[in-house]
This record gives sequence, structure tokens and C-alpha cells, in this order.
Amino acid sequence: MSEEQHYRLGTLAIHAGQRPDPQTGSIALPIHQTTAYSFKSAEYAAQLFNLEVPGFIYTRLNNPTTGVFETRCAALEGGVGAVATASGQQATFIALMNILGDIRESQKTPDAGPHVVASAAIYGGTVTLFSKSLESLGIRVAFVDARDPQKVAAAIRPCTRAVFIEAVANPSNYILDYEALGEVAHAAGVPLVIDNTVMTPVLFRPLEHGADIVVYSATKFIGGHGTCMGGIVVDGGRFDWTKNPERWPHLTHPDVAYHGVNFCERFGKAAFITRCVTHMLRDYGGVLAPHSAFLFLQGLETLHIRMQRHCENAMALAQWLEANPMVSWVNYPGLESHPSHALATRYLKNGFGAMLAFGVKGGRQAAEKFVESVQLAIHATNLGDVRTIVTHPASTTHRQLSEVELDAAGVSGDLVRVSVGIEDIADIQEDFEQALKASSRL
Ligand SMILES: Cc1ncc(COP(=O)(O)O)c(C=O)c1O
Repeated sequence: MSEEQHYRLGTLAIHAGQRPDPQTGSIALPIHQTTAYSFKSAEYAAQLFNLEVPGFIYTRLNNPTTGVFETRCAALEGGVGAVATASGQQATFIALMNILGDIRESQKTPDAGPHVVASAAIYGGTVTLFSKSLESLGIRVAFVDARDPQKVAAAIRPCTRAVFIEAVANPSNYILDYEALGEVAHAAGVPLVIDNTVMTPVLFRPLEHGADIVVYSATKFIGGHGTCMGGIVVDGGRFDWTKNPERWPHLTHPDVAYHGVNFCERFGKAAFITRCVTHMLRDYGGVLAPHSAFLFLQGLETLHIRMQRHCENAMALAQWLEANPMVSWVNYPGLESHPSHALATRYLKNGFGAMLAFGVKGGRQAAEKFVESVQLAIHATNLGDVRTIVTHPASTTHRQLSEVELDAAGVSGDLVRVSVGIEDIADIQEDFEQALKASSRL
């Protein structure tokens, strides 16, 4: 990648990691729909298995098509490497497991760990992953209000091994002080992990603002067309695991599973991401299919222009909703009325994203009527699609929550979440106008 690093984001989105195929001249990336690769000799195979030479072994570990997707994501984020996964959930899971290493070791410490500090305002599926599945493995997660970096600092314990936040969590759309949070994590000697699904590298590059590891659901804006599931882990390569080697023995000590390879010594800045492949993909699976990697690359090629249009539409829709008498409130970081507008203008130089939320006058019933009445927008729970999608969290994603819990999650009954698509804005506004009128007739 080094020869390409002087290119700008829009160029990297199209070219990073790939040139026309030298053998056939094929301009589009070939889909290497293969599970295995022939070894040219027994010695070469042994070198591959000893991690002495780079190369392809088996598609659960690596694949040439998926490899281009990984290289391109690393280039867009400014990282040293990336690993693609079968879903965003899998990306978060393996990123954390690869930080934590052998959890039995930290359970022996007096302040039994391992422990993770996470923002309370994150995707509901990640909350469940942390509070149920990781807890069941003996990993403790403290959820805090990450809008205040001091609350994060106060939650960190000697056995804390990571701080996890989302670049922007919906439906609140709070923008955090990422650099201050990075300082808090680094002062405690732990990496900051940021889920950048909703912003994408076009709007925000976490590695430039304190993050050490970035995770994504590629299912959303990266794919962009709602056609396939996937995730990605990007390693910034800057976190120094050797500074507190006893915390990360799986990266800093010889690994018996690989004939005594010491990942930090052998792979330097790429130690973390290499182990993501050699241990996390090898053992847990959850690998991205080559065909999905191809579709994600097609998504990446237009990401920069799609995000621009998403942001323009979202801003126009937010302003239009704010002026609409059938709407009680609008939540969009690009509006001056948003509580974190100042942080948004500081960190987001290319637009404020595609996600907004608003309250329908008339409360919960009126909001339900609104999502039933849209004709162009689609009533679903996805986001990041080229199509405008509306969701009523209180009756879908947050349905099981009591009124008190809904309130704590910032989900009021009147709230409609919108993932603003890239259609003509006048058509989106006309559709919302007729749906708002239908909801006001109740
Ligand atoms: C911010 C965020 N992170 C992660 C995920 C999980 O991604 P996936 O559905 O690809 O597993 C989602 C899914 O909605 C999400 O919104």
C-alpha cells in the first residue's frame, strides 16, 4: 500500500489494493471462488503454516478477493491492516477477543477481569453481545455515559483491557469527544476501539482522533445497497502492546500454537491484525465470503459520492422537518439545536451523516401511523441503504423495553428514526409530508 498512500480518499476508494489483472487484463476484480490453494512444494506449505512467508492457505484464513477488500479498508482508514468478517457482530467480537487473549489469565488477578468499559449509547445488538454473551464467558463490561470522558476514566479498573465506543450512536446521534476519550484510554494503557459503521471513513477517520482499532458493520453504508452481510476490523498499528507486555502475553510472548512465534517480534505494528487471522478467523470462523467481498468493493467504489448525497439529503430533510408544524422535535448533529453540534463541527468536516430522528406530534400512535403511511421510504430496521428507511424503535427494536427503559435509552414513543437515502430530496419530503398528514388525522 505504501506506494498508494499519497492518493486521496476518493481515489483510494476505487484503486487501493488492485490494478487490472496482470494475466488476463481483467479490470474488474476476479472473484476467487475457491476454498483452497495448491502448494508448490512441501517446504513452501510448511513455511506458510509456520507464518514464515505470506501466501494463501485456505479461505477461512485468507482469499485474494477478500484480501483486496481488506487492503482497501485499511487504506481508507489509514491503518496497517484489516480483517474482513461475516458480519459486523463478528468484527466486534473478534476485535475484543483478540485484545483480551486468554481470559483465564486475567481472572487470576485480584481485581478479577477481564473488564471492558463501553459507551452506554451503542447499537442494541452490541449491548446484548457485551451484557449477555461476553458476560457469560466471564468478561465484565461496564456501560458508562461516554459523553463525559471523566466518567469513562472513573470506570477503568486495573483489569480493564479496552474502551469501546461508537463514532455516533443512534437514535441519540451524540458526537463524542474522541480525542479526549483516546487520552483517557491511553493514560490507562488500554486501546480505544471505535465502531465507525454509521460515519464511514468518508466522514470520520477514527485512527486520526485517538482510536487504535476500528470496527465496522460493512452491511450498512460500505455495502450501501442492502445486499450482503459483513464486517471489518482495521488495526491502526500504533498501540504499543510491548509497553505492558504482561497484559497482552498472547501478543508479546511465544505462542505455542505457532511453534513459539512471538507476534510483536515477528509482525511488529501488524501483530494484532495478523493474530486476528491466525487465531480468531482460524478458530472462530465467521469469515467473509469472497462474493460478498466483491459486492462490498463495488460499494466502496462509490462510497465517497454516496455519503456526500446522503449527508446533503439528511441536512435538507432535518431542516425541513424542523420547520414542519406536524413535527415536535428533530435530532440531527448538523442542526445547531443538537446538543453535540459543537463537537460535530469540530470532528466531522465532510458532512454530518445520514441518520436522523424526529418526534411526530400526537405521540406513539401518530409515529406508528407515520411509518405505516410512507409510500416511497421503506419501513424496516436496516440503515445505510441507498433507499430511505424509517424505523419506529418503540414498536420494533426496543419493543421489549418498559417506558422507563425506553426513556433511559433515549427512545420516546413518538420517535421515528430515519436512515436518509440518496433519492431526490423533493420526493422524500413529499412522501414525509403525506405520511405526516396521515398521522395527524388520527
Ligand atoms: C453501529 C452498528 N454496529 C454493528 C452492527 C452489527 O452489524 P451486522 O448486522 O452486520 O452484524 C450494527 C447493525 O445494525 C450497527 O448498527
